[in-house]
Amino acid sequence: MDMKAKLAECLAKAAGVDTAEILAGLEVPANKDMGDFAYPCFKLAKVLRKAPPLIAKEIGEVLEKPDFIDEVQIVGAYINFFTNKASYTKGVLETILTKGSDYGKSDLGKGKTIVIDYSSPNIAKPFHVGHLRSTVIGNAIRKIYEELGYTCVGINHLGDWGTQFGKLIVAYKKWGSKEAVEKDGIQELMRIYVKFHDEAEQHPEMNDEARLWFVKMQDGDEEALSLWKWFYDISMKEFERVYDMLGVKFDAYTGESFYNDKMAPVIEELKEKQLLEESEGAMIVNLEEENMPPCLIIRKDGGTLYATRDITAALYRKKTYDFTKCIYLTALDQNLHFAQVFSVIHKMGYDWYKDLVHVPFGLVSLESGKLSTRHGNVVLMEDLLQQAIGETQKIIAEKNPSLPNKEEVAKKVGIGAVIFNDLYNSRIKDVVFSWSRMLNFDGETGPYVQYTHARACSILKKADGFTTENIDFGKLNDEASVDVCKLLEAFPKKIQDAADKLEPSIVTRHLVSISQAFNKFYHDNPILNSEDAVKKARLAVVVAVKTVIAEGLRLLGIDAPEQM
Ligand code: ARG
Repeated sequence: MDMKAKLAECLAKAAGVDTAEILAGLEVPANKDMGDFAYPCFKLAKVLRKAPPLIAKEIGEVLEKPDFIDEVQIVGAYINFFTNKASYTKGVLETILTKGSDYGKSDLGKGKTIVIDYSSPNIAKPFHVGHLRSTVIGNAIRKIYEELGYTCVGINHLGDWGTQFGKLIVAYKKWGSKEAVEKDGIQELMRIYVKFHDEAEQHPEMNDEARLWFVKMQDGDEEALSLWKWFYDISMKEFERVYDMLGVKFDAYTGESFYNDKMAPVIEELKEKQLLEESEGAMIVNLEEENMPPCLIIRKDGGTLYATRDITAALYRKKTYDFTKCIYLTALDQNLHFAQVFSVIHKMGYDWYKDLVHVPFGLVSLESGKLSTRHGNVVLMEDLLQQAIGETQKIIAEKNPSLPNKEEVAKKVGIGAVIFNDLYNSRIKDVVFSWSRMLNFDGETGPYVQYTHARACSILKKADGFTTENIDFGKLNDEASVDVCKLLEAFPKKIQDAADKLEPSIVTRHLVSISQAFNKFYHDNPILNSEDAVKKARLAVVVAVKTVIAEGLRLLGIDAPEQM
Protein backbone atom coordinates (compact mmCIF):
# COMPACT_ATOMS: atom_id res chain seq x y z
CA MET A 1 0.00 0.00 0.00
CA ASP A 2 1.33 3.45 -0.73
CA MET A 3 2.07 5.97 1.98
CA LYS A 4 -0.80 8.23 1.25
CA ALA A 5 -3.32 5.42 1.57
CA LYS A 6 -1.68 4.21 4.76
CA LEU A 7 -1.69 7.67 6.27
CA ALA A 8 -5.33 8.13 5.30
CA GLU A 9 -6.16 4.90 7.07
CA CYS A 10 -4.48 6.00 10.30
CA LEU A 11 -6.18 9.38 10.11
CA ALA A 12 -9.55 7.82 9.42
CA LYS A 13 -9.17 5.60 12.45
CA ALA A 14 -8.29 8.56 14.65
CA ALA A 15 -11.15 10.68 13.33
CA GLY A 16 -13.67 7.86 13.20
CA VAL A 17 -14.61 8.47 9.57
CA ASP A 18 -14.27 6.72 6.23
CA THR A 19 -10.77 6.25 4.76
CA ALA A 20 -11.99 7.31 1.31
CA GLU A 21 -13.24 10.59 2.73
CA ILE A 22 -9.84 11.34 4.24
CA LEU A 23 -7.94 10.20 1.18
CA ALA A 24 -9.82 12.63 -1.03
CA GLY A 25 -8.74 15.53 1.16
CA LEU A 26 -5.17 14.56 1.92
CA GLU A 27 -2.86 17.06 0.26
CA VAL A 28 0.76 17.43 -0.66
CA PRO A 29 1.52 21.03 0.38
CA ALA A 30 3.32 23.22 -2.09
CA ASN A 31 5.30 24.77 0.74
CA LYS A 32 7.74 22.36 2.37
CA ASP A 33 7.43 24.07 5.76
CA MET A 34 3.95 22.68 5.93
CA GLY A 35 5.09 19.13 5.73
CA ASP A 36 5.12 16.40 3.14
CA PHE A 37 1.43 15.69 3.59
CA ALA A 38 -1.25 17.83 5.10
CA TYR A 39 -4.83 17.25 6.04
CA PRO A 40 -7.13 20.27 6.24
CA CYS A 41 -9.95 19.42 8.66
CA PHE A 42 -12.54 21.78 7.16
CA LYS A 43 -14.41 19.04 5.38
CA LEU A 44 -14.83 17.06 8.59
CA ALA A 45 -16.57 19.95 10.35
CA LYS A 46 -19.89 19.00 8.82
CA VAL A 47 -19.64 15.34 9.69
CA LEU A 48 -18.21 15.76 13.19
CA ARG A 49 -20.05 19.00 14.00
CA LYS A 50 -17.06 20.68 15.53
CA ALA A 51 -14.80 23.57 14.63
CA PRO A 52 -12.02 22.49 12.25
CA PRO A 53 -9.13 23.55 14.57
CA LEU A 54 -10.66 21.54 17.39
CA ILE A 55 -10.98 18.52 15.13
CA ALA A 56 -7.32 18.88 14.14
CA LYS A 57 -6.29 19.06 17.79
CA GLU A 58 -8.34 16.05 18.82
CA ILE A 59 -7.14 13.92 15.95
CA GLY A 60 -3.58 14.91 16.82
CA GLU A 61 -4.07 13.62 20.35
CA VAL A 62 -5.24 10.13 19.42
CA LEU A 63 -3.45 9.57 16.14
CA GLU A 64 -1.22 6.53 15.98
CA LYS A 65 1.20 7.75 13.38
CA PRO A 66 2.59 5.31 10.84
CA ASP A 67 6.31 4.55 11.09
CA PHE A 68 7.24 6.64 8.04
CA ILE A 69 6.02 9.80 9.77
CA ASP A 70 8.65 11.51 11.93
CA GLU A 71 6.61 14.42 13.12
CA VAL A 72 3.01 15.65 13.24
CA GLN A 73 2.23 19.36 13.65
CA ILE A 74 -1.16 20.86 14.27
CA VAL A 75 -1.42 24.31 12.74
CA GLY A 76 -4.91 25.76 13.00
CA ALA A 77 -7.21 23.45 11.09
CA TYR A 78 -4.31 21.69 9.45
CA ILE A 79 -2.59 18.50 10.46
CA ASN A 80 0.85 18.56 8.87
CA PHE A 81 2.94 15.45 8.50
CA PHE A 82 6.69 15.33 8.15
CA THR A 83 7.89 12.08 6.74
CA ASN A 84 11.00 10.22 7.56
CA LYS A 85 13.06 10.84 4.42
CA ALA A 86 14.26 7.28 4.01
CA SER A 87 10.82 5.78 4.53
CA TYR A 88 9.33 8.34 2.20
CA THR A 89 11.70 7.75 -0.70
CA LYS A 90 11.48 4.03 -0.08
CA GLY A 91 7.69 4.14 -0.20
CA VAL A 92 7.59 6.10 -3.44
CA LEU A 93 10.39 4.38 -5.27
CA GLU A 94 9.53 0.83 -4.30
CA THR A 95 5.98 1.34 -5.51
CA ILE A 96 7.20 2.59 -8.88
CA LEU A 97 9.84 -0.11 -9.25
CA THR A 98 7.24 -2.76 -8.51
CA LYS A 99 4.41 -1.40 -10.62
CA GLY A 100 6.52 -0.19 -13.55
CA SER A 101 4.47 1.47 -16.26
CA ASP A 102 1.29 0.54 -14.35
CA TYR A 103 2.21 3.04 -11.64
CA GLY A 104 -0.31 5.69 -12.76
CA LYS A 105 -3.08 3.23 -13.55
CA SER A 106 -6.26 2.83 -11.57
CA ASP A 107 -9.59 1.11 -11.93
CA LEU A 108 -11.64 4.18 -11.12
CA GLY A 109 -13.47 3.95 -14.41
CA LYS A 110 -14.03 0.23 -14.47
CA GLY A 111 -17.22 -0.70 -16.28
CA LYS A 112 -17.77 2.85 -17.53
CA THR A 113 -17.61 3.95 -21.13
CA ILE A 114 -16.52 7.32 -22.41
CA VAL A 115 -17.13 8.33 -25.99
CA ILE A 116 -14.65 10.84 -27.35
CA ASP A 117 -15.41 12.67 -30.57
CA TYR A 118 -12.15 14.14 -31.80
CA SER A 119 -10.21 15.23 -34.86
CA SER A 120 -13.28 15.07 -37.14
CA PRO A 121 -11.92 16.97 -40.16
CA ASN A 122 -14.00 17.83 -43.18
CA ILE A 123 -13.43 15.73 -46.27
CA ALA A 124 -12.39 17.35 -49.51
CA LYS A 125 -10.78 20.04 -47.41
CA PRO A 126 -7.21 20.07 -46.21
CA PHE A 127 -6.42 18.72 -42.77
CA HIS A 128 -5.24 21.96 -41.27
CA VAL A 129 -3.58 22.75 -37.99
CA GLY A 130 -6.88 23.66 -36.33
CA HIS A 131 -7.77 19.98 -36.57
CA LEU A 132 -4.41 19.13 -35.07
CA ARG A 133 -5.56 20.48 -31.73
CA SER A 134 -8.72 18.42 -31.69
CA THR A 135 -6.74 15.34 -32.69
CA VAL A 136 -3.96 15.75 -30.18
CA ILE A 137 -6.05 16.86 -27.20
CA GLY A 138 -8.66 14.19 -27.89
CA ASN A 139 -6.03 11.49 -28.18
CA ALA A 140 -4.44 12.51 -24.87
CA ILE A 141 -7.78 12.68 -23.06
CA ARG A 142 -8.58 9.27 -24.38
CA LYS A 143 -5.31 7.77 -23.13
CA ILE A 144 -5.68 9.48 -19.76
CA TYR A 145 -9.16 8.02 -19.30
CA GLU A 146 -7.95 4.60 -20.36
CA GLU A 147 -5.21 4.85 -17.75
CA LEU A 148 -7.96 5.27 -15.17
CA GLY A 149 -9.69 2.11 -16.32
CA TYR A 150 -12.44 3.61 -18.46
CA THR A 151 -13.42 1.97 -21.72
CA CYS A 152 -12.99 4.62 -24.37
CA VAL A 153 -14.55 4.79 -27.80
CA GLY A 154 -12.70 7.15 -30.12
CA ILE A 155 -14.94 8.50 -32.83
CA ASN A 156 -13.98 10.46 -35.89
CA HIS A 157 -17.10 12.42 -36.76
CA LEU A 158 -15.91 13.31 -40.23
CA GLY A 159 -17.52 16.28 -41.94
CA ASP A 160 -18.48 14.19 -44.93
CA TRP A 161 -22.05 15.25 -45.63
CA GLY A 162 -23.86 18.45 -46.48
CA THR A 163 -24.54 20.90 -49.29
CA GLN A 164 -20.84 21.53 -49.82
CA PHE A 165 -20.59 18.14 -51.50
CA GLY A 166 -23.29 19.19 -53.93
CA LYS A 167 -21.12 22.19 -54.73
CA LEU A 168 -18.11 19.99 -55.20
CA ILE A 169 -19.97 17.73 -57.60
CA VAL A 170 -21.06 20.72 -59.68
CA ALA A 171 -17.53 22.11 -59.64
CA TYR A 172 -16.05 18.78 -60.64
CA LYS A 173 -18.47 18.36 -63.51
CA LYS A 174 -17.67 21.85 -64.77
CA TRP A 175 -13.92 22.11 -64.31
CA GLY A 176 -12.55 18.93 -62.86
CA SER A 177 -10.66 16.04 -64.35
CA LYS A 178 -10.04 12.58 -63.03
CA GLU A 179 -6.30 12.87 -63.67
CA ALA A 180 -5.91 16.13 -61.81
CA VAL A 181 -7.85 14.90 -58.77
CA GLU A 182 -5.91 11.66 -58.71
CA LYS A 183 -2.65 13.52 -58.97
CA ASP A 184 -3.23 16.39 -56.54
CA GLY A 185 -5.88 14.96 -54.25
CA ILE A 186 -7.45 17.34 -51.75
CA GLN A 187 -5.51 20.32 -53.14
CA GLU A 188 -7.28 19.90 -56.47
CA LEU A 189 -10.68 19.38 -54.82
CA MET A 190 -10.05 22.51 -52.83
CA ARG A 191 -9.09 24.43 -55.97
CA ILE A 192 -12.32 23.63 -57.80
CA TYR A 193 -14.35 24.21 -54.63
CA VAL A 194 -12.90 27.69 -54.25
CA LYS A 195 -13.54 28.31 -57.94
CA PHE A 196 -17.17 27.34 -57.40
CA HIS A 197 -17.52 30.02 -54.74
CA ASP A 198 -15.96 32.66 -56.94
CA GLU A 199 -18.14 31.80 -59.93
CA ALA A 200 -21.32 31.38 -57.89
CA GLU A 201 -21.08 35.03 -56.95
CA GLN A 202 -21.80 35.88 -60.58
CA HIS A 203 -24.07 32.89 -61.19
CA PRO A 204 -26.16 32.26 -58.09
CA GLU A 205 -28.16 29.60 -59.97
CA MET A 206 -25.14 27.35 -59.47
CA ASN A 207 -26.07 27.15 -55.81
CA ASP A 208 -29.47 25.72 -56.71
CA GLU A 209 -27.75 23.17 -58.88
CA ALA A 210 -25.51 22.24 -55.96
CA ARG A 211 -28.47 21.85 -53.62
CA LEU A 212 -30.08 19.54 -56.13
CA TRP A 213 -27.01 17.35 -56.17
CA PHE A 214 -27.00 17.18 -52.43
CA VAL A 215 -30.65 16.20 -52.40
CA LYS A 216 -29.69 13.48 -54.89
CA MET A 217 -27.00 12.31 -52.49
CA GLN A 218 -29.53 12.18 -49.69
CA ASP A 219 -31.87 10.15 -51.87
CA GLY A 220 -29.21 7.62 -52.76
CA ASP A 221 -28.62 8.62 -56.40
CA GLU A 222 -25.90 6.37 -57.77
CA GLU A 223 -23.89 8.93 -59.70
CA ALA A 224 -23.96 11.46 -56.89
CA LEU A 225 -22.92 8.89 -54.34
CA SER A 226 -20.13 7.38 -56.37
CA LEU A 227 -18.57 10.81 -56.90
CA TRP A 228 -18.98 11.56 -53.21
CA LYS A 229 -17.42 8.23 -52.28
CA TRP A 230 -14.47 8.97 -54.53
CA PHE A 231 -13.87 12.35 -52.87
CA TYR A 232 -14.18 10.56 -49.55
CA ASP A 233 -11.56 7.93 -50.37
CA ILE A 234 -9.13 10.49 -51.70
CA SER A 235 -9.47 12.56 -48.55
CA MET A 236 -9.16 9.61 -46.23
CA LYS A 237 -5.91 8.59 -47.88
CA GLU A 238 -4.43 11.94 -46.93
CA PHE A 239 -5.93 11.96 -43.43
CA GLU A 240 -4.57 8.49 -42.75
CA ARG A 241 -1.07 9.70 -43.52
CA VAL A 242 -1.40 12.41 -40.88
CA TYR A 243 -2.87 9.99 -38.32
CA ASP A 244 -0.02 7.58 -38.99
CA MET A 245 2.53 10.29 -38.37
CA LEU A 246 0.80 11.30 -35.16
CA GLY A 247 0.21 7.69 -34.09
CA VAL A 248 -3.50 8.35 -33.59
CA LYS A 249 -6.21 5.71 -33.99
CA PHE A 250 -10.00 5.71 -33.91
CA ASP A 251 -12.54 3.02 -33.12
CA ALA A 252 -15.08 4.32 -35.56
CA TYR A 253 -15.12 6.62 -38.56
CA THR A 254 -18.80 7.37 -38.24
CA GLY A 255 -18.95 10.77 -39.86
CA GLU A 256 -21.96 12.88 -40.72
CA SER A 257 -22.90 10.74 -43.72
CA PHE A 258 -23.37 7.78 -41.40
CA TYR A 259 -26.47 9.47 -40.03
CA ASN A 260 -28.15 10.11 -43.38
CA ASP A 261 -30.61 7.26 -42.93
CA LYS A 262 -30.92 7.73 -39.18
CA MET A 263 -32.23 11.28 -39.06
CA ALA A 264 -35.83 10.63 -40.17
CA PRO A 265 -36.91 8.80 -36.99
CA VAL A 266 -35.28 11.49 -34.87
CA ILE A 267 -37.10 14.24 -36.77
CA GLU A 268 -40.26 12.22 -36.27
CA GLU A 269 -39.57 12.04 -32.55
CA LEU A 270 -39.03 15.81 -32.39
CA LYS A 271 -42.40 16.24 -34.09
CA GLU A 272 -44.14 13.85 -31.72
CA LYS A 273 -42.69 15.63 -28.74
CA GLN A 274 -44.03 18.87 -30.27
CA LEU A 275 -40.65 20.47 -30.37
CA LEU A 276 -40.57 21.25 -34.10
CA GLU A 277 -41.85 24.62 -35.27
CA GLU A 278 -42.07 26.07 -38.72
CA SER A 279 -40.18 29.26 -39.32
CA GLU A 280 -39.87 30.87 -42.76
CA GLY A 281 -40.35 27.52 -44.43
CA ALA A 282 -37.72 25.82 -42.30
CA MET A 283 -38.18 23.55 -39.28
CA ILE A 284 -36.63 24.66 -36.04
CA VAL A 285 -36.55 23.92 -32.33
CA ASN A 286 -37.26 27.09 -30.44
CA LEU A 287 -34.69 27.78 -27.73
CA GLU A 288 -35.95 31.15 -26.55
CA GLU A 289 -36.38 29.89 -23.00
CA GLU A 290 -32.75 28.89 -23.01
CA ASN A 291 -31.75 32.32 -24.33
CA MET A 292 -30.39 30.91 -27.52
CA PRO A 293 -31.22 31.33 -31.18
CA PRO A 294 -33.36 28.51 -32.57
CA CYS A 295 -31.74 25.25 -33.58
CA LEU A 296 -32.31 24.72 -37.31
CA ILE A 297 -33.33 21.12 -38.03
CA ILE A 298 -34.56 21.11 -41.63
CA ARG A 299 -33.77 23.77 -44.19
CA LYS A 300 -36.38 25.33 -46.45
CA ASP A 301 -35.21 23.12 -49.32
CA GLY A 302 -35.54 19.96 -47.24
CA GLY A 303 -31.84 19.62 -46.51
CA THR A 304 -30.77 18.58 -43.03
CA LEU A 305 -28.00 20.30 -41.10
CA TYR A 306 -24.90 19.82 -39.01
CA ALA A 307 -27.04 20.09 -35.86
CA THR A 308 -29.59 17.57 -37.14
CA ARG A 309 -26.78 15.07 -37.54
CA ASP A 310 -25.26 15.85 -34.17
CA ILE A 311 -28.57 15.31 -32.39
CA THR A 312 -29.00 12.03 -34.24
CA ALA A 313 -25.41 11.03 -33.49
CA ALA A 314 -25.80 11.65 -29.75
CA LEU A 315 -28.90 9.44 -29.61
CA TYR A 316 -27.16 6.76 -31.64
CA ARG A 317 -24.10 6.84 -29.39
CA LYS A 318 -26.15 6.61 -26.22
CA LYS A 319 -27.96 3.59 -27.60
CA THR A 320 -24.84 1.94 -29.02
CA TYR A 321 -22.30 2.59 -26.27
CA ASP A 322 -24.36 3.56 -23.23
CA PHE A 323 -21.70 6.11 -22.33
CA THR A 324 -21.25 7.76 -18.95
CA LYS A 325 -19.82 10.73 -20.77
CA CYS A 326 -19.64 11.81 -24.39
CA ILE A 327 -16.94 14.37 -25.07
CA TYR A 328 -16.68 16.64 -28.13
CA LEU A 329 -13.43 18.35 -29.00
CA THR A 330 -13.71 21.39 -31.22
CA ALA A 331 -12.55 24.96 -31.30
CA LEU A 332 -14.28 27.51 -29.12
CA ASP A 333 -16.35 28.88 -32.00
CA GLN A 334 -18.66 25.86 -31.83
CA ASN A 335 -19.79 26.64 -28.28
CA LEU A 336 -23.20 27.79 -29.39
CA HIS A 337 -23.72 24.85 -31.71
CA PHE A 338 -23.14 22.35 -28.92
CA ALA A 339 -25.14 24.32 -26.38
CA GLN A 340 -28.05 24.20 -28.83
CA VAL A 341 -27.67 20.51 -29.61
CA PHE A 342 -27.46 19.60 -25.90
CA SER A 343 -30.51 21.74 -25.17
CA VAL A 344 -32.57 20.05 -27.83
CA ILE A 345 -31.68 16.66 -26.35
CA HIS A 346 -32.65 17.97 -22.92
CA LYS A 347 -35.97 19.16 -24.31
CA MET A 348 -36.53 15.71 -25.80
CA GLY A 349 -36.58 14.47 -22.23
CA TYR A 350 -33.25 12.67 -22.07
CA ASP A 351 -31.64 13.32 -18.72
CA TRP A 352 -28.31 12.07 -20.01
CA TYR A 353 -28.01 15.35 -21.90
CA LYS A 354 -25.88 16.39 -18.92
CA ASP A 355 -23.32 13.73 -19.79
CA LEU A 356 -22.62 15.47 -23.09
CA VAL A 357 -19.58 17.66 -22.73
CA HIS A 358 -18.20 20.12 -25.22
CA VAL A 359 -14.49 20.59 -24.59
CA PRO A 360 -13.44 23.72 -26.45
CA PHE A 361 -9.94 24.90 -27.22
CA GLY A 362 -8.23 28.03 -28.50
CA LEU A 363 -6.89 28.87 -31.93
CA VAL A 364 -3.59 28.06 -33.55
CA SER A 365 -1.47 30.65 -35.22
CA LEU A 366 1.91 30.71 -36.85
CA GLU A 367 4.48 33.23 -35.76
CA SER A 368 4.13 34.73 -39.21
CA GLY A 369 0.40 35.27 -38.97
CA LYS A 370 -2.97 33.61 -38.97
CA LEU A 371 -3.62 30.28 -40.62
CA SER A 372 -6.31 31.06 -43.11
CA THR A 373 -8.64 28.39 -44.41
CA ARG A 374 -10.21 30.62 -47.01
CA HIS A 375 -8.78 31.05 -50.51
CA GLY A 376 -6.79 27.86 -50.22
CA ASN A 377 -3.68 29.30 -48.62
CA VAL A 378 -3.74 27.06 -45.59
CA VAL A 379 -0.86 25.51 -43.78
CA LEU A 380 -1.27 21.79 -44.18
CA MET A 381 -0.79 19.52 -41.26
CA GLU A 382 1.35 17.12 -43.22
CA ASP A 383 3.73 19.87 -44.32
CA LEU A 384 3.92 21.16 -40.82
CA LEU A 385 4.85 17.78 -39.38
CA GLN A 386 7.41 17.24 -42.13
CA GLN A 387 8.89 20.60 -41.29
CA ALA A 388 9.07 19.65 -37.60
CA ILE A 389 10.97 16.51 -38.55
CA GLY A 390 13.27 18.46 -40.86
CA GLU A 391 14.08 21.07 -38.22
CA THR A 392 14.84 18.30 -35.73
CA GLN A 393 17.12 16.57 -38.20
CA LYS A 394 19.15 19.76 -38.43
CA ILE A 395 19.49 19.93 -34.65
CA ILE A 396 20.52 16.29 -34.40
CA ALA A 397 23.07 16.69 -37.19
CA GLU A 398 24.60 19.47 -35.18
CA LYS A 399 24.34 18.07 -31.65
CA ASN A 400 24.73 14.34 -32.09
CA PRO A 401 25.79 13.45 -35.62
CA SER A 402 26.74 9.86 -34.74
CA LEU A 403 23.31 9.00 -33.31
CA PRO A 404 22.02 5.68 -34.63
CA ASN A 405 18.52 5.65 -36.22
CA LYS A 406 18.70 9.39 -36.78
CA GLU A 407 15.64 9.43 -39.04
CA GLU A 408 13.51 7.53 -36.59
CA VAL A 409 14.54 9.71 -33.65
CA ALA A 410 14.00 12.93 -35.62
CA LYS A 411 10.47 11.78 -36.33
CA LYS A 412 9.73 11.01 -32.69
CA VAL A 413 11.26 14.23 -31.43
CA GLY A 414 9.91 16.52 -34.16
CA ILE A 415 6.36 15.26 -33.93
CA GLY A 416 6.61 14.96 -30.17
CA ALA A 417 7.59 18.63 -30.04
CA VAL A 418 4.49 19.65 -31.99
CA ILE A 419 2.19 17.57 -29.78
CA PHE A 420 3.83 18.75 -26.57
CA ASN A 421 3.60 22.38 -27.64
CA ASP A 422 -0.09 21.90 -28.23
CA LEU A 423 -0.67 20.28 -24.85
CA TYR A 424 1.51 22.55 -22.75
CA ASN A 425 -0.91 25.37 -22.00
CA SER A 426 -4.44 24.98 -20.80
CA ARG A 427 -6.41 24.09 -23.88
CA ILE A 428 -8.50 27.23 -23.99
CA LYS A 429 -5.41 29.32 -24.69
CA ASP A 430 -4.31 29.98 -28.23
CA VAL A 431 -1.30 28.06 -29.47
CA VAL A 432 1.50 29.75 -31.36
CA PHE A 433 3.76 27.76 -33.58
CA SER A 434 7.30 28.86 -33.03
CA TRP A 435 9.88 26.37 -34.18
CA SER A 436 12.67 27.90 -32.16
CA ARG A 437 10.62 27.72 -28.99
CA MET A 438 9.09 24.32 -29.30
CA LEU A 439 12.33 22.66 -30.38
CA ASN A 440 14.40 24.28 -27.67
CA PHE A 441 16.08 21.38 -25.86
CA ASP A 442 16.47 23.52 -22.74
CA GLY A 443 12.98 25.00 -22.67
CA GLU A 444 9.75 23.67 -21.27
CA THR A 445 9.35 21.50 -24.32
CA GLY A 446 8.82 18.00 -25.61
CA PRO A 447 12.47 17.60 -26.62
CA TYR A 448 13.56 18.69 -23.13
CA VAL A 449 11.43 16.02 -21.46
CA GLN A 450 12.41 13.40 -24.03
CA TYR A 451 16.04 14.33 -23.56
CA THR A 452 15.71 13.89 -19.80
CA HIS A 453 14.28 10.45 -20.41
CA ALA A 454 17.11 9.58 -22.80
CA ARG A 455 19.62 10.81 -20.24
CA ALA A 456 18.10 8.47 -17.64
CA CYS A 457 18.29 5.61 -20.13
CA SER A 458 21.90 6.36 -20.85
CA ILE A 459 22.85 6.41 -17.14
CA LEU A 460 21.17 3.05 -16.67
CA LYS A 461 22.94 1.61 -19.66
CA LYS A 462 26.28 2.69 -18.25
CA ALA A 463 25.37 1.29 -14.85
CA ASP A 464 25.05 -2.13 -16.36
CA GLY A 465 24.42 -4.88 -13.81
CA PHE A 466 22.33 -2.82 -11.41
CA THR A 467 19.57 -4.60 -9.52
CA THR A 468 16.77 -3.12 -7.51
CA GLU A 469 17.21 -5.39 -4.52
CA ASN A 470 18.45 -4.40 -1.07
CA ILE A 471 18.51 -0.69 -1.65
CA ASP A 472 19.49 1.48 1.29
CA PHE A 473 17.04 4.34 0.90
CA GLY A 474 18.66 6.11 3.81
CA LYS A 475 21.24 7.25 1.26
CA LEU A 476 18.64 9.46 -0.39
CA ASN A 477 18.45 12.10 2.32
CA ASP A 478 19.37 15.13 0.25
CA GLU A 479 16.78 17.65 -0.78
CA ALA A 480 17.05 17.08 -4.52
CA SER A 481 16.33 13.36 -4.16
CA VAL A 482 13.33 13.97 -1.94
CA ASP A 483 12.03 16.63 -4.32
CA VAL A 484 12.13 14.21 -7.24
CA CYS A 485 10.31 11.59 -5.17
CA LYS A 486 7.60 14.04 -4.23
CA LEU A 487 6.88 14.83 -7.83
CA LEU A 488 6.86 11.15 -8.71
CA GLU A 489 4.48 10.54 -5.83
CA ALA A 490 2.07 13.14 -7.21
CA PHE A 491 1.98 11.64 -10.71
CA PRO A 492 -1.10 9.37 -10.30
CA LYS A 493 -3.06 12.24 -8.77
CA LYS A 494 -2.11 14.50 -11.68
CA ILE A 495 -3.54 11.96 -14.11
CA GLN A 496 -6.81 12.02 -12.20
CA ASP A 497 -6.86 15.81 -12.14
CA ALA A 498 -6.20 15.89 -15.87
CA ALA A 499 -9.17 13.59 -16.42
CA ASP A 500 -11.47 15.53 -14.08
CA LYS A 501 -10.65 18.83 -15.72
CA LEU A 502 -10.26 17.39 -19.23
CA GLU A 503 -6.93 19.12 -19.25
CA PRO A 504 -3.91 17.14 -20.51
CA SER A 505 -1.71 20.18 -19.78
CA ILE A 506 -1.73 19.08 -16.13
CA VAL A 507 0.25 15.99 -17.14
CA THR A 508 2.41 17.91 -19.61
CA ARG A 509 3.46 20.46 -17.01
CA HIS A 510 4.07 17.84 -14.39
CA LEU A 511 6.48 16.08 -16.73
CA VAL A 512 8.40 19.32 -17.10
CA SER A 513 8.57 19.65 -13.31
CA ILE A 514 9.82 16.09 -12.93
CA SER A 515 12.43 16.68 -15.64
CA GLN A 516 13.62 19.88 -13.99
CA ALA A 517 13.84 18.23 -10.57
CA PHE A 518 15.63 15.23 -12.03
CA ASN A 519 18.16 17.38 -13.83
CA LYS A 520 18.87 19.20 -10.59
CA PHE A 521 19.22 15.87 -8.80
CA TYR A 522 21.58 14.67 -11.49
CA HIS A 523 23.59 17.86 -11.32
CA ASP A 524 23.88 17.77 -7.51
CA ASN A 525 24.48 14.06 -7.09
CA PRO A 526 27.17 12.06 -8.81
CA ILE A 527 25.72 8.67 -9.63
CA LEU A 528 28.07 6.34 -11.44
CA ASN A 529 31.15 7.42 -9.49
CA SER A 530 29.58 7.08 -6.06
CA GLU A 531 30.20 4.26 -3.63
CA ASP A 532 28.03 1.23 -4.26
CA ALA A 533 25.20 1.76 -1.77
CA VAL A 534 24.75 5.42 -2.78
CA LYS A 535 24.99 4.56 -6.44
CA LYS A 536 22.35 1.90 -6.08
CA ALA A 537 19.92 4.18 -4.27
CA ARG A 538 20.41 6.96 -6.80
CA LEU A 539 19.94 4.55 -9.67
CA ALA A 540 16.58 3.64 -8.20
CA VAL A 541 15.61 7.30 -8.63
CA VAL A 542 16.80 7.15 -12.23
CA VAL A 543 14.74 4.05 -13.00
CA ALA A 544 11.65 5.56 -11.40
CA VAL A 545 12.02 8.84 -13.31
CA LYS A 546 12.56 7.03 -16.58
CA THR A 547 9.45 4.92 -15.96
CA VAL A 548 7.22 7.84 -15.06
CA ILE A 549 8.38 10.12 -17.86
CA ALA A 550 7.95 7.39 -20.47
CA GLU A 551 4.47 6.64 -19.21
CA GLY A 552 3.55 10.33 -18.97
CA LEU A 553 4.68 10.95 -22.53
CA ARG A 554 2.76 7.91 -23.69
CA LEU A 555 -0.40 9.37 -22.18
CA LEU A 556 0.16 12.50 -24.22
CA GLY A 557 0.66 10.47 -27.40
CA ILE A 558 4.41 11.11 -27.52
CA ASP A 559 7.17 8.56 -27.97
CA ALA A 560 10.16 8.41 -25.65
CA PRO A 561 13.29 7.42 -27.59
CA GLU A 562 16.05 5.84 -25.49
CA GLN A 563 18.72 7.79 -27.27
CA MET A 564 18.72 11.20 -28.86
N1 ARG B 1 -16.16 18.63 -38.79
C1 ARG B 1 -16.27 19.62 -37.77
C2 ARG B 1 -15.29 20.74 -38.05
O1 ARG B 1 -14.31 20.55 -38.72
C3 ARG B 1 -15.99 19.10 -36.39
C4 ARG B 1 -16.94 18.01 -35.92
C5 ARG B 1 -16.94 17.86 -34.42
N2 ARG B 1 -17.80 16.84 -33.97
C6 ARG B 1 -19.15 16.89 -33.95
N3 ARG B 1 -19.81 15.85 -33.50
N4 ARG B 1 -19.78 17.96 -34.34
O2 ARG B 1 -15.48 21.85 -37.58
